[in-house]
Amino acid sequence: MNTYSNSEASVKREFWKEAVVYQIYPRSFKDSDGDGVGDIQGIIEKLDYLKELGVDVIWLSPVYKSPNDDNGYDISDYEDIMDEFGTMHDWEQLLAGLHERGIKLMMDLVVNHTSDEHPWFIESKNNPDGEYGDYYIWRDAHSDGSLPNNWESFFSGNVWEYSEERGQYYLHLFSKKQPDLNWENPKVRQAVYKMMKFWLDKGVDGFRMDVINLISKVEGLPSNGTEEIADGSMYYVDGPRIHEFLREMNEEVLSNYDMMTVGEMPGVTVEEAKKYTAEERKELQMIFQFEHMRVDAGEGGKWDIVPWTLPQLKEVMHKWQIGLADKGWNSLYLNNHDQPRMVSRFGHDGEYRIPSAKLLGTLLHTLKGTPYIYQGEELGMTNVAFDTIDQYKDIESLNMYVERVTEKKADPDQVLSMIQRRGRDNARTPVQWDATENAGFTNGTPWIGVNPNYTQINAEQQLDDADSVFRYYQKLIALRKQYPILTYGDYELLLPDHEQLYMYTRTLGEDTWLIVHNFSTEPTDFDLSSYTGDQQATLILSNYPEENADLAHLRPYESKIYAYN
Ligand code: NOJ
Repeated sequence: MNTYSNSEASVKREFWKEAVVYQIYPRSFKDSDGDGVGDIQGIIEKLDYLKELGVDVIWLSPVYKSPNDDNGYDISDYEDIMDEFGTMHDWEQLLAGLHERGIKLMMDLVVNHTSDEHPWFIESKNNPDGEYGDYYIWRDAHSDGSLPNNWESFFSGNVWEYSEERGQYYLHLFSKKQPDLNWENPKVRQAVYKMMKFWLDKGVDGFRMDVINLISKVEGLPSNGTEEIADGSMYYVDGPRIHEFLREMNEEVLSNYDMMTVGEMPGVTVEEAKKYTAEERKELQMIFQFEHMRVDAGEGGKWDIVPWTLPQLKEVMHKWQIGLADKGWNSLYLNNHDQPRMVSRFGHDGEYRIPSAKLLGTLLHTLKGTPYIYQGEELGMTNVAFDTIDQYKDIESLNMYVERVTEKKADPDQVLSMIQRRGRDNARTPVQWDATENAGFTNGTPWIGVNPNYTQINAEQQLDDADSVFRYYQKLIALRKQYPILTYGDYELLLPDHEQLYMYTRTLGEDTWLIVHNFSTEPTDFDLSSYTGDQQATLILSNYPEENADLAHLRPYESKIYAYN
């Protein structure tokens, strides 16, 4: 059967809709050679673990040559492997090992910017009239000496860096070692497409595209207002030529391969997302949106941490579920290498860590869309709170710390506490494999500290425990494979304003499933029969090991999936 018919429309079956994706951040996954940095041979050691979990696709964060200013998101050679991670031969072995196990490989495509150590940039700054002169976004200062515009970088400070060699400024939305490519230049686009084909011809099965909705900037790069520094995102998020560029990429590359695509898109709206992912427009298959990552952020942005509420989270998720119900497709995630650990942020990382990790997993595997698991999530790994700033490694956090503490004289403890809660290093502590020193991640000194809770939370223990988070994730993944309703069923939200219950149905043909989550440390009852009517409800899955005879009762952080027809 190639399509599923539901009440709205008939939905085309696709591998990438049915798949579960697992993200590997290689630096922190598994070190095989004792240098303290995860590597490709380390991943190869764990292929059977991934197979056992049951995932279909690996998204591998960048493994290309890089000076590691931003841990591989600053690439100096797109067609070679970072020395610390191994060789091209290792990578080929990894691909073969995945394919032997029926797992696909999605590579990270980082083409909004390169490293400033990329030969293209070196040529560009040294030789403005040469082949690469127009590969980046170069501007002169204004006649009064002020910067070309007032945009603020994602990593603090402004987006401009002066090059002595060229006597001009170049634009960098991220660190100054990540100059933005000039997508207006057709030669840049062709060079990117050529590189994409290089990897596809080597057998990769798809790309996750880094900040891909930022590649088209508004002509003239206007300042936002007159402040010295301001958010410039309205001039580069979903910019004027973005759809044109993606369609060109699709025509020249993507459409010629059987492959998966997911575009990372900060600031994207549902309306734009429909355009990016509607099948007939031939751009991308899915995107990562960020709206739900902002439910606990105030006006001041990501570091302005405010309490989130369940109705708010439901509202955002609902908007996307509905928005892409008939056109386009959702990707589902609650954490990745840029976000705090989901169990610490949206669950409970104390007494209820295990049920709440399972609850969040249930949410991700029962909403409509493709679930993305971030390494360690399947173990219920938590945030870490390092005591001192020098234990943190992430450029975003460190730049922010310097700006606020050194330049603006903010209270260092307060800034440290923001980093402890929101910093990206929460996701980047090594995967906890076992209870031996350094969590079995390395025989050497890990590049970043291991979360001290590894003696309780680790893979070895969980593989031996039928009720572990890992074993529960296996069940969730298997359930999606067994029941197309979880992939293709219509979604409907119930009780949107309820502060404790997150409840929705999925419907396919004659079947309806009711999914209920108790987002609270308090137990609760709910009126199951008001949803099922006189139909018999069967419990398909619950995240508590012991059966709960009362179908309409939920324990703290309990999730239940019922079927009725
Ligand atoms: C998004 C990536 O996920 C993040 O890790 C990186 O710092 C920026 N893009 C810049 O490449």
